[in-house]
Amino acid sequence: MMIERVIQYAQTLLKRAVSEGDITVDATAGNGHDTLFLANLVGDDGYVYAFDIQKQAVDATLHRLLDNALEHRAIVLKDGHENVTKYINKQVAAAIFNLGYLPGSNHEIVTKPNTTIQAIESLLNLLKVGGIIVLVVYHGHEGGKDERDEVIRYVSNLPQKYVHVLRYEFMNQKNDPPFLIALEKVKEYSIES
Ligand SMILES: C[S@@+](CC[C@H](N)C(=O)[O-])C[C@H]1O[C@@H](n2cnc3c(N)ncnc32)[C@H](O)[C@@H]1O
Repeated sequence: MMIERVIQYAQTLLKRAVSEGDITVDATAGNGHDTLFLANLVGDDGYVYAFDIQKQAVDATLHRLLDNALEHRAIVLKDGHENVTKYINKQVAAAIFNLGYLPGSNHEIVTKPNTTIQAIESLLNLLKVGGIIVLVVYHGHEGGKDERDEVIRYVSNLPQKYVHVLRYEFMNQKNDPPFLIALEKVKEYSIES
């Protein structure tokens, strides 16, 4: 396929941004697919900080890491990504969010606009120049469109001198397909919250 699917493209961007020894963040661990992907990229000297508010997701992520003998490369936290600065005070190379609900779980536990934006803002401060934040935006569920619109409003207003903001989206797919937003920090700055 010439044009990468959204999830493939997210992985391509993460691969480009992350080197061995880097600190990375999976902001919505869920079943742990992205945590495992990042754990493979950071090597034995790097770390993935994985966040999720559901015990089920934390357990699933830990199991996935253990099954792949990579648990030493990740810190899996049962806490909201909006609290990222409580845990990380080093520069981050990459972060990924999958907005929405955990597939196969309670569809009412979803990411929310305020906390998502708070986490993006904190991560932009922690991000190193050349680092990337990738958001895969699922918006078909209840509340999904509000979150999508608020996130788009927030990222569209980031200053282009400091952050490059990309939207990657298939335009002819039915049933609210996910799309991707990528934020690349191109110059050091500090955003006041
Ligand atoms: C679309 S799922 C993530 C899927 C995941 N990337 C995977 O590989 O399976 C979204 C996840 O975000 C979690 N979540 C919701 N609000 C959160 C918050 N404030 N902080 C961290 N995780 C949150 C949900 O519990 C859910 O597991």
